[in-house]
Amino acid sequence: MKDLKLIGPFSQIATLSDISLKGPIADKELKIIEQGGIMVENGIIKEIGNYDDLASRAVAMNATIEELQGKHSCLPGLIDAHTHICFGGSRAKDYALRNAGKSYLEIAKAGGGIWDTVTQTRKASGEDLIKGIVKRANRHLKNGTTTLEVKSGYGLSVEEELKMLNAIKEANKQLHSDLISTCLAAHMVPRDHHGTTEEYLNEISTTLFPLLKEEGLSNRIDAFIEEGAFTPSSIASYFSRAREMGFDITVHADQFSTGGSKVAVEFGAISADHLEASTDTEIQLLGNSNVIATALPGASLGLGCNFTPARKILDAGGALAIASDHNPGSAPMGDLLTQAAVLGAYEKLTNAEVLAGITFRAAAALGLKDRGRIEVDQMADLSVFHTADYREILYHQGNFKPCLVYKNGHRVYDKHKS
Ligand code: NIG
Ligand code: FE
Repeated sequence: MKDLKLIGPFSQIATLSDISLKGPIADKELKIIEQGGIMVENGIIKEIGNYDDLASRAVAMNATIEELQGKHSCLPGLIDAHTHICFGGSRAKDYALRNAGKSYLEIAKAGGGIWDTVTQTRKASGEDLIKGIVKRANRHLKNGTTTLEVKSGYGLSVEEELKMLNAIKEANKQLHSDLISTCLAAHMVPRDHHGTTEEYLNEISTTLFPLLKEEGLSNRIDAFIEEGAFTPSSIASYFSRAREMGFDITVHADQFSTGGSKVAVEFGAISADHLEASTDTEIQLLGNSNVIATALPGASLGLGCNFTPARKILDAGGALAIASDHNPGSAPMGDLLTQAAVLGAYEKLTNAEVLAGITFRAAAALGLKDRGRIEVDQMADLSVFHTADYREILYHQGNFKPCLVYKNGHRVYDKHKS
């Protein structure tokens, strides 16, 4: 049955249409529709235009009208292209230690860090993990995020990684938002693995990779390339195998030292994420490639370190996405809008560049073509804010939250009803 509905009027619709995937964006390139309406058919945007025109045709079209009272501005549903929201326990202790002067890598070497979360995640049941993901994703939904990537990587054995990826799959069924899962079994070599790094990676790629395909658990393979995790040479055959099997590759790259972004470019990764340590060499490399460069300001805020050189990446012609990296260690805040706004202020990014980074450029980092812009044939995923001026959204640096969120044309969050 045809379900046709008109939503509006919106004082402004920031469509994010007709903007290139790569390079700088001036605010005047943002296509804003004033007094707009959005016609939705079975969850997909069918028409966008002047609200009064659409409303006058709605009856003849047999459409229902969802009329908004007051002033509203509309963005595409936000997309968070990098999170680790499947985990057990807390790392408040690490945070305190870091602020008392220890570094992330020192804490990891002393038994804290990722391994601590691995221990706590292994203790959690599948049910516990599902509950945690659902709770966190629902918080993000209220903040406007309708699509989130979620990584495994705190299991670090075939069985425990499967537990995490199954929990992500199950949580996805319970949520309005869409979860895109990524296998991060190459987060670090597990401390309880008795073989070499090569043997660990080999075991994962020969045993786990085929299961990911067979059971529809993930289409994406990630690795952390860093001191204490994996070197570019140790990861090469792992990524070759992933590529041969048709997985998308994504990389935790250049977080504390360089090397990862070069691997990302060589393997044709869909994205290289972090990049806080990237120098002009890596920036040029990324700018000349089709790899999406994903800045993770939440990790800079959580670790108290410099931001990804986002301005330089854009000026070098790069495609910049911005994601929260929400995880219990380096990025416990998990507020995408706040972090994107703060990155924009520090890195001198235009409103358009920040909004592109959390909408269609983030969609590209996940290989999704059906969302991220308010355009005909895109999913009707919308974040709606109580303002006549879309610039108010970033101006409040995340303190101004959506009043309504739509997923596939359905109102899934209403601030006044929750
Ligand atoms: O993206 N850098 C590696 N991985 C995560 C942190 C994971 C953790 O500290 O638990 C990140 O920052
Ligand atoms: Fe991460």
